[in-house]
Amino acid sequence: KMDTFVSELMGKMTVEEKIGQLNLVTGGEAVTGSVVSTGVESKIKSGQIGGIFSMSSPSKIRAAQTLAVKQSRLGIPIIFGMDVIHGYKTLFPIPLGLAATWDMNLIRESARIAAVEATADGLNWTFSPMVDISRDPRWGRISEGSGEDTYLSSRIAAEMVKGYQGSDLQANNTLMACVKHFALYGAAEAGRDYNTTDMSLHRMYNEYLPPYKAAIDAGAGTVMASFNDINGVPATANKWLMTDVLRNQWGFNGMVVTDYTGINELVDHGLGDLQTVSALSLKAGIHMDMVGEGFLTTLKKSLDEGKVTQAEIDQACRLVLEAKYKLGLFEDPFRYCDDKRAKNNILTPAHLAKSREIAAKSFVLLKNDKQTLPLQKKGTVALIGPLANTGANMPGTWSVSADLENTPSLLEGMQAALGNSVKIVHHMGSNLLTDAAYQERATMFGRTIPRDERPEADIIAEAVQVASGADVIVAALGESSEMSGESSSRTDLDIPATQKRLLEALLKTGKPVVLVVFAGRPLTLSWEQEHVPAILNVWFGGTETGKAVADVLFGDVNPSGKLPATFPKNVGQIPLYYAAKTTGRPLAKDAWFQKFRSNYIDVDNEPLYPFGYGLSYSSFSYSDIKLSKTSLQANDKIIATVNVKNTGNFDGEEVVQLYLRDIYASITRPVKELKGFQKIFLKKGESRDVSFEISAEDLKFYNNELKFVAEPGDFKLYIGTNSSDVKETQFTLE
Ligand code: IFM
Repeated sequence: KMDTFVSELMGKMTVEEKIGQLNLVTGGEAVTGSVVSTGVESKIKSGQIGGIFSMSSPSKIRAAQTLAVKQSRLGIPIIFGMDVIHGYKTLFPIPLGLAATWDMNLIRESARIAAVEATADGLNWTFSPMVDISRDPRWGRISEGSGEDTYLSSRIAAEMVKGYQGSDLQANNTLMACVKHFALYGAAEAGRDYNTTDMSLHRMYNEYLPPYKAAIDAGAGTVMASFNDINGVPATANKWLMTDVLRNQWGFNGMVVTDYTGINELVDHGLGDLQTVSALSLKAGIHMDMVGEGFLTTLKKSLDEGKVTQAEIDQACRLVLEAKYKLGLFEDPFRYCDDKRAKNNILTPAHLAKSREIAAKSFVLLKNDKQTLPLQKKGTVALIGPLANTGANMPGTWSVSADLENTPSLLEGMQAALGNSVKIVHHMGSNLLTDAAYQERATMFGRTIPRDERPEADIIAEAVQVASGADVIVAALGESSEMSGESSSRTDLDIPATQKRLLEALLKTGKPVVLVVFAGRPLTLSWEQEHVPAILNVWFGGTETGKAVADVLFGDVNPSGKLPATFPKNVGQIPLYYAAKTTGRPLAKDAWFQKFRSNYIDVDNEPLYPFGYGLSYSSFSYSDIKLSKTSLQANDKIIATVNVKNTGNFDGEEVVQLYLRDIYASITRPVKELKGFQKIFLKKGESRDVSFEISAEDLKFYNNELKFVAEPGDFKLYIGTNSSDVKETQFTLE
């Protein structure tokens, strides 16, 4: 039915109208490049626009859609997109924080709520999930993905697609997903945004490509090309990637959109002039051109000159029309424009409650000496730091639809949650950054943090004075939300120096200090780990950050978040990730330096906090692993079981993690790879058996010929509370 409908429609279209469908313009609500779309109204009427993104509200969308369906020659509806990547108006933690929950149901629910709200506001397409693996926290966009791990990211990618798209894309509360940025964007050299990637094929297939594939296997309707160069050919012009891998190997049959001016940027990549690169993109398998209008302005000429074919233009146009058909836009172009839904379905108490729950579960307790936490609900708390009273920074990066002015700050949220039980006194304590120009770059898009231009020592002294009457100090320090995200790469991942000096002064008061770290990436917290008794990493928790922080600090919620990315000791260790190769000269177990071994002379090889790490107010003990058998046949499975006991004084959740290692293989294999996890709840004193099934499928990898194989031999199997702290056993694949 879709085929016939689209073929009939295309039969009536001129070449210009077909090319018009490939044009995606911005409504201007979030501008991330130097070009902004112009003449949108007249282009809609003349059939030169297929989609609009970054425009919201039923009234604006109804107006634009009316122009398209009533005033363009064929009345083809427009598709409306937006970056809804961790919530719409009700913001959830940044994606890296969502990943730290390791809770697939909650992650799917967050995407479902985002879809309900965004569609209530007129949208039908989201540029999410962002599934770029990154092992380099210098890269600002590590905040927008699920971290360093292939397996965890793949699981999350699939859940997010299911959450957005639901079971019926034509329902008025489901969004079409767009998995991005295809591909390898997170492997940018030196963590500098938009930088080159160059990678072996087996690393790509084994480690970086699976999350994109998982999203596609879960049914993601569209794909976005990445900005970066891949082994010499930028993704936007990369036929091998877009056609051989995506369509021929993976069977993807939806449309591919560029990133913002991605085609134009091929000129700067050095591939040719705009006409040449537009033709290259189309031929590579790109179907929609975001903002740059390379397709719109050159494809007809290229067709006349024989540089592209009619079939290539038709194929792109067909895929754009099919996306609209799948969304039901031809049946009812206004199905997402319902003022009642916009009023009733956004920022509802239920959505806010879910946001608070998820935020609290995303926080990772990094240190808790002498049970500094949880705090008691009494006395006076001094809440000090530049992140303490800035609501605009709570939603976190890439929350383009957030109502920044009405988002409660940490202080306001904590006050709302705690009422009169605790007195909170507050001081900013220090600037975000000493350098005013750096602070300006770090507080863009309305996410300002006020500056105090007095001498730093005076500001700190005032803060210490405020704290002097308190029973406990909560220091809210770290990054502003715009210190991570797009175009926010950093080479120094410490808490900024002025904030650190504030922290030192607070510690000198001798009062208990709890450090609440705001961060869009793993920071280097070696000094803090040494000196501060309690550290809670809260990422950016979304709309309800303040209440959720209160929930955790005061023990209403026992923290259960686990790191989805390794926290290095210093920047020089980067890239540092748990699933590394052993090298031919590994360090002896427990040694931190050996001459002529693979190490540094100034820092050991270990992370500050390993992947999968996160404390609880309780403690969990693990029994040794029991295997149902130690020899696995190709079509069989092994059951690995541990008994996990809550040995502490609080009920709590624990993420039980399963890792495997292929000891000898035809290519070098990682020392550990996550292959399963279960998040369990145990009452204090309770214990439970946790079992994992392992089959030959879990042992497969892409070999040097890119064949997906399980090679017979011995495997190590680990189960534990994080990637370093594990029990170990061994089995054989026959
Ligand atoms: O979806 C985004 C992408 O992640 C970065 N560039 C702009 C796009 C549209 O806003």
